[in-house]
Amino acid sequence: MHILVTGGAGYIGSHAVKLFLERGHDVWIYDNLCFGHRAAVPADRLIVGDLNEPHRIDQVLLQHRIDAVVHFAAFTYVGESVQHPAKYWQNNVVNTLNLMECLRRHKVARFVFSSTAATFGTPEQMPITEQTPQKPINPYGASKLTVERILADYSQAYQWGFAALRYFNAAGARADGSIGEDHTPETHLIPLIIQAAMGKRPHIEIFGTDYPTPDGTCVRDYIHVDDLAEAHLLTLEKLQPGQAMHYNLGNGRGYSVREVIAAVEAVTGKKVPIKEGPRRAGDPPVLVASSDKIQKELGWKPRYTDINAIVETAWNWHRAHPKGYKDK
Ligand code: UFG
Repeated sequence: MHILVTGGAGYIGSHAVKLFLERGHDVWIYDNLCFGHRAAVPADRLIVGDLNEPHRIDQVLLQHRIDAVVHFAAFTYVGESVQHPAKYWQNNVVNTLNLMECLRRHKVARFVFSSTAATFGTPEQMPITEQTPQKPINPYGASKLTVERILADYSQAYQWGFAALRYFNAAGARADGSIGEDHTPETHLIPLIIQAAMGKRPHIEIFGTDYPTPDGTCVRDYIHVDDLAEAHLLTLEKLQPGQAMHYNLGNGRGYSVREVIAAVEAVTGKKVPIKEGPRRAGDPPVLVASSDKIQKELGWKPRYTDINAIVETAWNWHRAHPKGYKDK
């Protein structure tokens, strides 16, 4: 397949690109490098461009005879989306629509979309299945759900085959230590704990210790980034014209913030200084996925089911790259 990967120089995108290339696909990365990293992808596969430049996208589609798109490019900070909603509607919805219109003109009708657990808001019933009502509670989740709905319309009207993949908490790094997680600013739990373990931060602050969970801290479903990459490839290979796929991607098991800190301590052999703080606004107490549907329908099976194994890959990356990609 000739695959265009938007946001392919980002955290999840770069892991997907590596896998697609390994499996023999012709892969082109379209990334404006606002958050992506040049060093995370092969230089001869990278096209630096923005989604608000339709003429450039047109060129790329023609030149590389693209027949499928995997769309990672987006803004993903929940808190920022509450402060600056226009930024999220513009980039995550308007720019995605620009891209979709280019694809329609060029008759590219296979599309895999990075959606999120944030489209569900704060459901009461766990685990979260594909039947769970989607009621986002912030502009980030709302912007992703809007694209899911636009895709459903395109699928009906233009016979697009699409997959909306709702990631839970993406974590870990490529097992060979070549690429990993480097966000600026970093807000994600596992890299922050590792930085505290390495002495690069004074402590990890636990956001809330009074949640209705066994140890009072939030519970999340951590899924390895390479398992996410596999899910993208599987859906791409199975998509048929007019087909709409919706899948939740997690391990089906939740870990509390304290359990994740314990996992980092076990893997690194270092004590992590802790500060107990107040709740972070908008954090649901528990988010755990059921991924039975993709397991049954496509045979997807996560290889990393143990939190220590996930943390170990993240630790290998951070140990080898204490300053990340050093480009921001
Ligand atoms: N946490 C802390 N201290 C920190 C950072 C995080 O205690 O310094 C806690 C959070 O409160 C949360 C858990 O660790 O309970 C995980 O937090 P992350 O920020 O790593 O991840 P989130 O669950 O907030 O966010 C993830 C994705 C988002 C997505 C969201 C869906 O990163 O893109 O899940 O709810 F929108």
